[in-house]
Amino acid sequence: MSKQRPTLTTTAGAPIADNQNSQSAGPRGPLLLQDYQLLEKLAHQNRERIPERTVHAKGWGAFGTLTITQDIGRYSRAKLFAGVGKQTPMLARFSTVAGEQGAADAERDVRGFALKFYTEEGNWDLVGNNTPVFFIRDPYKFPDFIHTQKRHPRTNLRSATAMWDFWSLSPESLHQVTMLMSDRGLPTDVRHINGYGSHTFSLLNADNERVWVKFHFKTQQGHQHWTNAEAELVVGKSRETTQEDLFNSIEQGDFPKWTMYIQVMTEAQARQTPYNPFDLTKVWPHGDFPLIEVGVMELNRNPENYFAEIEQAAFSPSNVVPGIGFSPDKMLQARIFSYADAHRYRLGTHYEALPVNQPHCPVHHYHKDGPMRFFANNPNPDAYYEPNSCNGPAQDPRYAEPPLPLDGDADRYDHREGNDDFSQPRALFELFDHGQQGRLFANIAAAMDGVPDEIVERQLALFERVHPDYGAGVRKVLGK
Ligand code: NDP
Ligand code: HEM
Repeated sequence: MSKQRPTLTTTAGAPIADNQNSQSAGPRGPLLLQDYQLLEKLAHQNRERIPERTVHAKGWGAFGTLTITQDIGRYSRAKLFAGVGKQTPMLARFSTVAGEQGAADAERDVRGFALKFYTEEGNWDLVGNNTPVFFIRDPYKFPDFIHTQKRHPRTNLRSATAMWDFWSLSPESLHQVTMLMSDRGLPTDVRHINGYGSHTFSLLNADNERVWVKFHFKTQQGHQHWTNAEAELVVGKSRETTQEDLFNSIEQGDFPKWTMYIQVMTEAQARQTPYNPFDLTKVWPHGDFPLIEVGVMELNRNPENYFAEIEQAAFSPSNVVPGIGFSPDKMLQARIFSYADAHRYRLGTHYEALPVNQPHCPVHHYHKDGPMRFFANNPNPDAYYEPNSCNGPAQDPRYAEPPLPLDGDADRYDHREGNDDFSQPRALFELFDHGQQGRLFANIAAAMDGVPDEIVERQLALFERVHPDYGAGVRKVLGK
């Protein structure tokens, strides 16, 4: 064997003499149980898969940098925003929502836009989409909604009937459905999409004053999308077009960039808006809440190992840092629970100690043991409980947020009562030119193929309430 090649070993480090022939009783005989190398290879192969994400299973990712271009210190004390020129390393994972891990990339679907910023005060994850709104506003409906996007239990096929049944009974979905069925619902790749934090979050400044905030990442590459007909041809040739596009662009030094903006709303303004500013089916109009530039995000490094760095990446809206906080958005509140729970199931108890998820700052906590505990004790092994008199890590009240006044009785409030689900989709519809409107009608009609009349009529009535031309346009393409 050549001197340069390392000797193959077992995972326990023992050299392996033969990696071609299993041990048998005689040249044609059965195999020996003592051939541990054979057993080890088969056993490891059986464990190569982990559960795929229950949503957003198909994904593409890369590493990069956020560079601050405008000082927003008046709004947030977060160190990642501290001063023009400040750089923070980050990871992005993009995804489709409904398809499984092997799904084709060029499908009409919302794109996930998940960002992890490795700040000096912990990881900040912004787990957004390429749309500023969502299909539902109460997380109670999330599992039901996702079931309509996944496979029917009997046919094992996706069901247009289930989708339109749910949407037509949920008028709050109109805004997002209109985006999904518009040109931007089928992007050519992820370099050519915007990203939105979507939820309302809060920012806290050095004086501990709170404002509400929305995060936007606008593509510097411009928008590019395919029509349904184009996508059919694309998928016929390759199911991996987004992976090819992102990986090859970065490999060739053509680094995609996004401009980061925020919209800011004061607590007083939030009490005045005609819509609930914590409702995920609503945007904040730019005319009332203009975009404020923050920085530039650039993706410039491909992962070395897709599984280790992208499949095992764990993004969670619960990961905020001092200077960035939550809001009363009910969807956000549920997501604060859901993601870490999914990560413990999908990746294991110590998923945050995996290199891709590990913060780039020291961590000091009192969680103990569990499967695959591999990290060392804190420097002081006597301090394994809290409070202690061994100088173990302790809380620091300087990081406390100001109290948030709340009111009202605990109850289940009807989130559809008195809610205007039509004005904002109307503003979007009116933004589309004639060609865009025509493609919207055609995309919806195509997606309704095979759906029972009663459901179609219920949905058309909703489109008509958005805009008479919207309902009439879809009706015409359907030949009704
Ligand atoms: P503006 O005219 O100021 O902004 C329109 C926004 O719509 C831009 O951000 C634009 O993104 C985006 N847009 C254009 N075409 C599409 C599409 N097919 N799908 C999704 N987004 C699109 O208007 P307003 O702020 O007053 O909002 C009007 C409507 O625009 C809203 O009801 C909402 O539907 C939509 N919108 C609003 C956003 C907001 O945060 N206010 C964000 C995104 C959409 P770009 O600049 O990249 O072209
Ligand atoms: C992934 C739950 C709404 C964006 C996931 C995962 C779960 C989940 C369990 C898989 C996580 C994993 O295994 O790592 C929920 C719940 C929601 C909700 C309960 C509502 C109550 C949203 C919304 C957005 C969003 C509103 C965007 C604004 C994403 C993205 C991913 C994801 C981008 C993929 C993250 C990655 O790349 O790893 N969601 N979700 N989700 N979700 Fe949600």
